[in-house]
Amino acid sequence: MTPNLKVVLALAGCLAAGPALAADPFFPSFGNKGYDVLNYDLDLDVAPAANNLDGRAELTIRAHQRLGSFRLDLAGLKVSAVSVDGKRAGFSQKGEKLTIVPPKPIAKDAKFTVLIVYAGKPTPIQDPTAPDDPSLTLGWFHYKRGTYVVSEPGGTLTFFPANDELTDKATYKFTVTVPKGYAGVANGLLTKTETVGNKLRFTWQMREPMTTWLATVHVNKFKVSTARTASGTPLRVYTTDKTPKADIAGYLDAKKMLTYFEGLVGKYPFESYGSVVVDDPILYYALETQTMSTFPLGAADAAVVAHELAHQWFGNSVSVSRWKDLWLAEGFATYFEVLWPNRHDPAGFDADMTEIYDYVVQEKIGPAVVETPEQLFSDRTYLRGGSALYALQLKVGEKTFMKIMRTWATKFRYHKVSSTDFVDTAVEVSGDKSVRKLLNAWLYEAA
Ligand code: ARG
Ligand code: ZN
Repeated sequence: MTPNLKVVLALAGCLAAGPALAADPFFPSFGNKGYDVLNYDLDLDVAPAANNLDGRAELTIRAHQRLGSFRLDLAGLKVSAVSVDGKRAGFSQKGEKLTIVPPKPIAKDAKFTVLIVYAGKPTPIQDPTAPDDPSLTLGWFHYKRGTYVVSEPGGTLTFFPANDELTDKATYKFTVTVPKGYAGVANGLLTKTETVGNKLRFTWQMREPMTTWLATVHVNKFKVSTARTASGTPLRVYTTDKTPKADIAGYLDAKKMLTYFEGLVGKYPFESYGSVVVDDPILYYALETQTMSTFPLGAADAAVVAHELAHQWFGNSVSVSRWKDLWLAEGFATYFEVLWPNRHDPAGFDADMTEIYDYVVQEKIGPAVVETPEQLFSDRTYLRGGSALYALQLKVGEKTFMKIMRTWATKFRYHKVSSTDFVDTAVEVSGDKSVRKLLNAWLYEAA
């Protein structure tokens, strides 16, 4: 990972924005160095009315260097015990860091497990993409009789100890225990539902790699609707008694969309898909939480449903390794949200994309690759990013364009990518060297 430690340290020193070797310069405090989490096994007992969480997190980790101690991210929850490979370990909490001191140092390249017992009332943290707006927060929320999670780009540390940065992808198991009458929903495939005393326990397995910011857990008095796609992917739609019937049908349309997208860009990358609604009126956006997209009230229209589904290929399976390249998620989801409703109407698709393109030109929307966290969810990533793809399509033709998208989704499945990887792929697949100049202009040059 570190090609030349001296150079990297020198660079980190120049940036002087936080701890050396931060995973991403946008958020220097996110994540920790020295290791790679392979799997999170999370046992979460949730009392939704009181917003109490009792957690046991077992992490399987590979050490990248000798570790006399190491750190994890955890905010607002109290740790009561830690063990490493089954032996009691020392620990301390300061701010949003949990420091763990194993009984003896961990050797470089060793694989080990750490068990952390913790509890508390999870509290959302400030959204670092809107640092001046205290009403915008991230992580685990409590609303009326339920709880939910939206973490992009860094709220996961509010509900379990994690290496909470975008490049450390891992597999997950969630065991969510809730009072009877409630359901516990998480990422992955629901593999077990059992009764334990007066509680219900739901086991979810996310067996493909997932970045921490896509992890989610929802507890509410849900209704569930199920379906299965033509190619066999099970769908689960979790709604509440407030969800309009038409919205449930809207979420279930993901069944047709998934098959359509598979025809264009290749096999759906995960074992299951689903949607979960949040009734809390303060949530105003949907989020592509891996395999289980999260929707605010009233966002079940085809464009939003298609947008979050498209993210499963573009943004989740193929995820960004630097936040500044988020157009690789948002620009792609924008393209497909326009394509779905126009799938039988090429002229309508061109008209809609041209409208976006004209807006980007008129408003002089800046380059798709952004410079600051505040620009992450702006027109630059969504609309200029989407226009960059449309410009590519106009240049290489529809057929070659979809071949580029399919190659991208397949070649980098479960991996992390940068804008350069995309430009290289587009040049390679199209065999047209001038594509590099076109894309670089859309990605890096002023209006
Ligand atoms: N990724 C989400 C979407 O595509 C938007 C997330 C906005 N996040 C935020 N912290 N404002 O719809
Ligand atoms: Zn999006």
